[in-house]
Amino acid sequence: QKQVKVGLLGLGTVGGGVYKTLLKNRDTILTRTGCTVEVVNVLVRDRGKERGFAIDPSVLTLEPQELLSDEQIDIYIEVIGGLHPAKEIIEQALNSKRHVITANKELMAKHGAELLRLAHQNGVHLLFEASVAGGIPVIHMLQGYLTANRVHEISGILNGTSNYILTEMSKTGRSFPEVLSEAQSLGYAEADPTSDVEGFDAAYKLAILTNLAYDTCVDVAQIDRQGISEISGHDLKLAEQLGYTVKLIGHAHEQDGALRLSVRPSLLAGSHPLARVDDVFNAVTLRADVVGDLTLIGRGAGEFPTASAVIEDLTTLLTQGENIRRPNWDRVQTAASHAEPKVG
Ligand code: NAP
Ligand code: HSE
Repeated sequence: QKQVKVGLLGLGTVGGGVYKTLLKNRDTILTRTGCTVEVVNVLVRDRGKERGFAIDPSVLTLEPQELLSDEQIDIYIEVIGGLHPAKEIIEQALNSKRHVITANKELMAKHGAELLRLAHQNGVHLLFEASVAGGIPVIHMLQGYLTANRVHEISGILNGTSNYILTEMSKTGRSFPEVLSEAQSLGYAEADPTSDVEGFDAAYKLAILTNLAYDTCVDVAQIDRQGISEISGHDLKLAEQLGYTVKLIGHAHEQDGALRLSVRPSLLAGSHPLARVDDVFNAVTLRADVVGDLTLIGRGAGEFPTASAVIEDLTTLLTQGENIRRPNWDRVQTAASHAEPKVG
């Protein structure tokens, strides 16, 4: 059996889930990959924080350089979030020819092309399944499976926090701030929940899926975006009386040779396949020319669904290594090289 050493950057909701799952499912991972995985170094901001689970304090560090200079580490997992210092840490890790796994959708949406290029140049991989739709393997579907298909349309519920808020407000009549604070305590929301409720988070995820599906590199600032913060309980009741459900929908399709991307609250008829995707669940429908419609549904946020996606990337690295297909996205400089993203 091979010993694989992991450097974990972040030990919050996702990092904690990764750490606990690597211990709990150690034997399963060994059986399936032939590797024992050990977390040898963990970056945090506060070493004294009560984390609710046992961890040897000697593996915790406040210094990114301590982790980055640790020669024994084979793979880094970045789950600190935000653009900085996550970007610089990932760049350094890739330049030191170590694989990186990240859950960071903002970073991948804004700087994915350059980071993927850097990984390619260094002969290592940057994997990011957890960056879109939590536990749903939609990146694997686009990247590892739908190779001969041309995807024509992507639509889905891409933010668990918003979906949780809309579901709870509609079913229980509770207020927006009350349900948002519950979503935060459940570990669903981003550090700044504005990203969730104003549609930025869903826009980042839509950009990542679009880049993979269309071999392009969209500018997230160009996405027509509206969140759910203006939606009242009254709006939801009215929609329900008319036979509709309100969902925050991310949508990308090609029209007249241009890509059109939007994230908006949308009225779905009760019979619509996404109308009953409730709670923290996400769903993504890919419409492709050969297979037709494929819809994946699963938990879109939270400790263990997200940890699952991170660890499946890790086992993919351990079992497939060199054979992992690289996205074409890193070979595209700008959106214009494929199709200009348009508002609406
Ligand atoms: P979180 O609970 O806030 O955890 C962040 C962790 O990173 C904490 O352990 C924190 O240390 C550490 N950290 C943050 N900034 C740091 C810095 N500058 N230096 C050292 N350590 C730092 O966040 P999270 O919910 O786990 O999310 C992490 C990433 O996963 C984000 O990119 C997020 O978008 C993504 N993601 C989250 C979910 C989800 O459901 N939560 C799902 C998919 C993707 P301390 O613990 O000491 O404060
Ligand atoms: N805050 C995000 C959400 C986490 O609620 O969907 C998963 O990416």
